[in-house]
Parts: sequence; C-alpha cells; structure tokens
Amino acid sequence: MDVAESRARPNQFARQLFAGLPKRYNLLAELLSLGQDRRWRDEMVTHVAGGSLGRILDVACGPAAVTRELASRTSAQVVGLDLSVDMLAEGAANVSRAGLGDRVSMVLGRGEQLPFADAAFDGLTFTYLLRYVADPAATIAELARVVRPGGPIASLEFAVPPNPGWRAAWWGYTRAVLPVAGLMTGGPAWFDVGRFLGPSISSHYRAFPVPWTLDAWRNAGIDSVAHRSMSLGGGLVVWGVRRA
Ligand SMILES: C[S@@+](CC[C@H](N)C(=O)[O-])C[C@H]1O[C@@H](n2cnc3c(N)ncnc32)[C@H](O)[C@@H]1O
Repeated sequence: MDVAESRARPNQFARQLFAGLPKRYNLLAELLSLGQDRRWRDEMVTHVAGGSLGRILDVACGPAAVTRELASRTSAQVVGLDLSVDMLAEGAANVSRAGLGDRVSMVLGRGEQLPFADAAFDGLTFTYLLRYVADPAATIAELARVVRPGGPIASLEFAVPPNPGWRAAWWGYTRAVLPVAGLMTGGPAWFDVGRFLGPSISSHYRAFPVPWTLDAWRNAGIDSVAHRSMSLGGGLVVWGVRRA
C-alpha cells in the first residue's frame, strides 16, 4: 500500500483501502486528526446548512458522519454517495440507528462521474476525497455541475501545517506515531493504513498546493471561494457558492 499505487489506480485503491475500515473508521479519523475531526466537520457543515435547502449531496460519505450531521442540522433530503460498498453499508446502518432513514438515502457512485442531472442539488459537501482521484480539478468541476446556481458547496481535507515547526511535529506524528497507533488499535492492516496516510497527504499537496486547489474551485464555476486552515493547518475547510 503506497502513494504510487494510489495514484496509478485511485478507485481500485480506495475500494481496497476502505473495504476493511468501516467498523473502526471513526477511531482512525480521530487518531489522524488528534481528536479534531468533529470540529472540522462542524465547521464544514456550517457553510452549507445555513439556508433553506431541499436536497443536499454528501460525496465520499463513508460511514455517513457528515451525512447524518447534514440531516440533523437541516430539514433537507440528504443523499450520501460513496464508491465503497462496505462503507455505504456501514453508513446506512448508522443512518438507520440515528432514526434518519426517512430523509437520507445512500447511493453507490464515483465523485468523478456522478449519477445525477445538472443542478440536481441545492447544496453539496465532500470530505477527504481529493487524494483518491486522478484529476482533482475535473472532479471538483463534476461536483459543481450537480449543484444549482447559488447553492453552497463545502469540503474538508487533511492538510500539511504551513508553519515549519508544526510541520516537523506533524511529520513525526504521521510517520512514526500513526503507524504504531494503527498497529496497536487494528493490527497489521492498520499499520499499513497508518503508514500510508502521512505520505499520501504530503504528496497530494506537493502536486496540488492549497492555492492551486482554490483556483480549481473558481475554475469549476464556484464563486466566493474561501478557506479556513484549522488546528495549526492539519485540517482544511474550503467553501463557496455555485456560480449563477
Ligand atoms: C476518509 S473517508 C471519509 C468518510 C466521511 N466523509 C467522513 O468524514 O467520515 C473517504 C471516503 O471516500 C470514499 N472515496 C474514495 N474515492 C472516492 C471516489 N472517487 N468517489 C466517491 N467516494 C470515494 C472512500 O470509499 C471513503 O469512504
């Protein structure tokens, strides 16, 4: 499991990576974000949940944490989409346990080619997706395509802290602590996942730095693009509005 492999066959790689993770995914997200994941998610959802929205799409929904939060904080019908059957099954179980089954549906699909018409949604979120697609700019354009003009779009991704001191600490944590924490909480398979994540995040931002990403949003037809770097730069929330 390495970064070159994830770049060469991103969909296949993501399906394989996430097949074994659903049950313990939340723990891994907490570990990688040092417990900050919930705060980051809240911030992202705030940028979409403000207005009155009929339908919201949550792409790369995984176990549906964001999907459920969108349903809880709005009165919208929410669709969660993911390419992993295992993640979707876990997401559907979580939605049903939360009593949100009447307003949430789960759809198998790829962010690169959404099975929806243009402007089919009033708002959209995507989380931790861009490291798993071959062409992030084309994917952002595809996500924007399904949002109606004026509809809010927001995303959350891991990021590399910009301050050199914090970046060194982040590097040590992701390269040394995370694989060992993975091993101790989930065995050898999680050691591999823990070892993959840090290099995957570094390599993504070497190829697609934050200013590049913000330009890709604008070029995709999204206006009022803004971002917030959170927790010393370990989390990145981006938001904007679909151009009229
Ligand atoms: C790190 S998880 C994020 C899950 C969830 N959004 C959360 O915050 O808890 C990333 C998810 O992206 C999904 N994924 C990866 N590549 C994808 C793609 N091209 N299209 C749709 N989903 C994808 C994976 O299956 C996985 O469930």
